[in-house]
Amino acid sequence: MIPEDKVREVADRLSIVEVVSEYVQLRRSGGNFLGLCPFHGEKTPSFNVNPAREIFHCFGCGAGGNAFTFIMKMEGLSFPEAVKLLARKSGIEIEERQLTPAEKETQDEFVRFQRINELTASYYRSILLHGQEGEAARQYLAKRSVEAGISEEYRLGFAPDRRDGLVKHLKNNGAELESALKLGIIRKSDSGWYDLFRNRLIFPIRDARGQVIAFAGRVLDATLPKYINSPESPLYHKSSVLFGLDMALPSIRTGSSVIIVEGYFDHLALYRAGVQNVVATCGTALTGTHAGLLKRHADRVYTLFDSDSAGKKATIRSMELFLEQRIPAYVISLPAGDDPDSFLTTHSSDEFAALRDKARPVFEYFVRSLLFETPPDSVDSKVRIIDEIVPRFRKIVDSVERDLYEKEICRLLGITSHAFRKRMGGAKLSQQDAPTNPDRASQTSDNVQDTLLALLINYPDARAEIVRIGLETVFTNDYLLLAGLLRDKLTGSDDDNVTGILAESIEQPELKALFSRIMVSDAYLADIDWRAVLSQCTRSNEKKQLSSIKDIAARLAVVDPASTEYEELLQQADALRSRKSKL
Ligand code: UTP
Ligand code: MN
Repeated sequence: MIPEDKVREVADRLSIVEVVSEYVQLRRSGGNFLGLCPFHGEKTPSFNVNPAREIFHCFGCGAGGNAFTFIMKMEGLSFPEAVKLLARKSGIEIEERQLTPAEKETQDEFVRFQRINELTASYYRSILLHGQEGEAARQYLAKRSVEAGISEEYRLGFAPDRRDGLVKHLKNNGAELESALKLGIIRKSDSGWYDLFRNRLIFPIRDARGQVIAFAGRVLDATLPKYINSPESPLYHKSSVLFGLDMALPSIRTGSSVIIVEGYFDHLALYRAGVQNVVATCGTALTGTHAGLLKRHADRVYTLFDSDSAGKKATIRSMELFLEQRIPAYVISLPAGDDPDSFLTTHSSDEFAALRDKARPVFEYFVRSLLFETPPDSVDSKVRIIDEIVPRFRKIVDSVERDLYEKEICRLLGITSHAFRKRMGGAKLSQQDAPTNPDRASQTSDNVQDTLLALLINYPDARAEIVRIGLETVFTNDYLLLAGLLRDKLTGSDDDNVTGILAESIEQPELKALFSRIMVSDAYLADIDWRAVLSQCTRSNEKKQLSSIKDIAARLAVVDPASTEYEELLQQADALRSRKSKL
């Protein structure tokens, strides 16, 4: 653990412009510096660095934060690691706080795990490279055209056909067998310790930073099971690990997109063909955690699964995750009978690029395969199709997209959009669309709230005034959450240059992005009469709320007075009126 005041010292010592300049070419533009964002591909610069605030923000992808955040994202480091890296650069020595005995034990165990995984990976690797026992595996790799360079990048290995080869190797190197047991790579029986992997080609599985965390072993022939994998362990959680992410990150960053495949050999086939923005799940279906992880690194996702029915099912399951997480997802379809590996063995990478360019949005793919399986040739089949579509359709957030799909679905099924909506069930849909319940993603930036928030940050007197009026009377949604956080952090702090540190202490990504966006674009508020601006803003808010009272009145006129909705509308109107009178 790094003490707070050390973090502060490092922050004070360095300039964000210098830190960022090591990675991005910056030029001055007004009070900010401007450059091409390193976190997504762009041709015109929208990456802003504000030296006065020690903060950066990209208007293209929303990334933002302070120098530590920048280094964390750029180098794939944790917060303490980023602080240490910058401390070294600015010549500050960091003495860590004493760990508790429990923390110390966890940390020691972690170090043991890492050492064991390293020992294991190099053991398998040396068997593959040298000696008689690796001969069959070498031939197998030659047959599959896996050349030395690629074998090295993946750190492929071979587990010999011995009961306890790895056990002995670990023992000889003084490793703790009990720790290796927790990693699941060796086991214990009445007759002693023995290896998990025997006579298998080994793929080490690494985390995003390239540390080996688990292993997968493939047979060299047609024996079943084809693969066995390390079990879940303190280091390895299948549902959140993507194979090959460490190798793919540079290329994902450049192109902002990522391709997901299902097999280790599929990963290898693409990577070898020069398609390096590729990751694979590890013998499990894609999870929400995987999707979230990908969203952090890429703006769009391509699925590339086998062309068989299992692959189709996997594609459609993954669609729901992408819709939920709001990640644009596309499906690359292979010719029937092919998997990514076989396709790339018989086709050039240009031919693969052509397939990728023809990728269809995943929802469209879903509707088409549904219609293929169940031709809409009777009322009965149409109803069944719509019932399949509806729950997924509801997850499409973008209203334009939804509109387009609705038209397309209706056209394909030969039904009216009235009929489709009826089947959708009015209640649930209208609740999602209701203006009184704005969805976080569709919440666009709001000039008035931007200004108010900037006032709250920059002018302590304005802050006091806004707090007096009540945050919830002037802010909504993310603005309200962020304003609450800032009020708590800023009130009573006499330091006027805390924004850099503040950016770090905001945990939710949406709020962090909102904060940094406002911080790099509030120069117009320097030296203003905050009272005048504040009263302009509150008046403009007042007008907006008036119009929503009108909306409520219009709705009240058509709703059944005995219904609960009527009751709720009345309450909303009341709340609005009392807010207004407070202003
Ligand atoms: P595949 O059978 O398609 O394997 O399973 P592959 O990696 O493409 O290998 P080749 O090209 O046939 O040699 C896809 C993925 O499913 C998991 C593995 O992660 C594999 O890469 N799997 C498959 C298992 O975990 N266990 C198995 O027995 C089979
Ligand atoms: Mn395969």
